[in-house]
Amino acid sequence: TAPILRSLEALRAVGAEWRAEGARVAVVPTMGALHDGHLSLAAAAKAAADRVIVTIFVNPRQFNDPGDLARYPRTEARDAEKLAPLGVDALYVPAADQVYPPGFATSVSVSGVSEGLCGAHRPGHFDGVATVVTKLLLQTGADCAFFGEKDFQQLMVVRRLVRDLDIPVEIVGCPTVREPDGLALSSRNALLPGDSRAMAPALYRALEAARQALEAGTGAETTLATARAAIMAAGFAEVEYLELRAAADLAPLEAADVPARLLVAAHLGGVRLIDNIPVAAR
Ligand code: PAJ
Repeated sequence: TAPILRSLEALRAVGAEWRAEGARVAVVPTMGALHDGHLSLAAAAKAAADRVIVTIFVNPRQFNDPGDLARYPRTEARDAEKLAPLGVDALYVPAADQVYPPGFATSVSVSGVSEGLCGAHRPGHFDGVATVVTKLLLQTGADCAFFGEKDFQQLMVVRRLVRDLDIPVEIVGCPTVREPDGLALSSRNALLPGDSRAMAPALYRALEAARQALEAGTGAETTLATARAAIMAAGFAEVEYLELRAAADLAPLEAADVPARLLVAAHLGGVRLIDNIPVAAR
């Protein structure tokens, strides 16, 4: 298995060795509890770079709900085992003070793409994400960094901050990995009570049906209302948001007249699920 680095000093030492070899270095930021979605990012990173660092850090600053943070699964030994066959070169699992030293007083806040959608329902979340991702990119000094489209708004926030702060890293977005029934892989799926798990794929099915309708020319308002009704009829407790946005910058859209994205967050069995899919321009 790959060495586990727990200090910034150890990370920098390894990075300096690799740079001396002229290696191209990739980083895959995660919060652990790894599943096949995370592993697909590590595999893509390995294919694109000479050296891959997977970071595991459950970032307290991005949890707006302390209960959610306390419940977050921590499975470091199993995570390391899952990464071993992929040829990952190092795990960076920093102690909290390696990321947030005493007196830490800086925050990275991205306006525009952070607003609305998950940003409207999770106050402070994207500031926490932007701050930790900025730190992980700078600490690793990676040439490229891999993120999942599963968290599409997060991917857009990261692209924006990298451009705005001139961080010399290439951001690579990777497609969402799904269960055979369409449910997007998420560490939260394990929290779904037994009877809810069977209802969960309705979320993706509703998105797919809406995509087809939009691409066939049905109006956005009608299409979104139909999708919302389908999700509720499947047994979800609440649709937090269901929106059509421009794929390029998440601008709100009245119609799918440019490449677009349908994004949803909904509650089922006490669990908050998110998903999104692309919609072609008509
Ligand atoms: P985490 O939820 O652990 O996700 C780590 C990475 O895996 C993210 O880029 C996420 O989009 C990707 N991912 C999750 N599920 C996926 C799936 N089903 N298919 C493809 N990729 C998937 O996202 C975070 O951690 C944190 O916010 C982080 C970026 C690490 C900052 O703390």
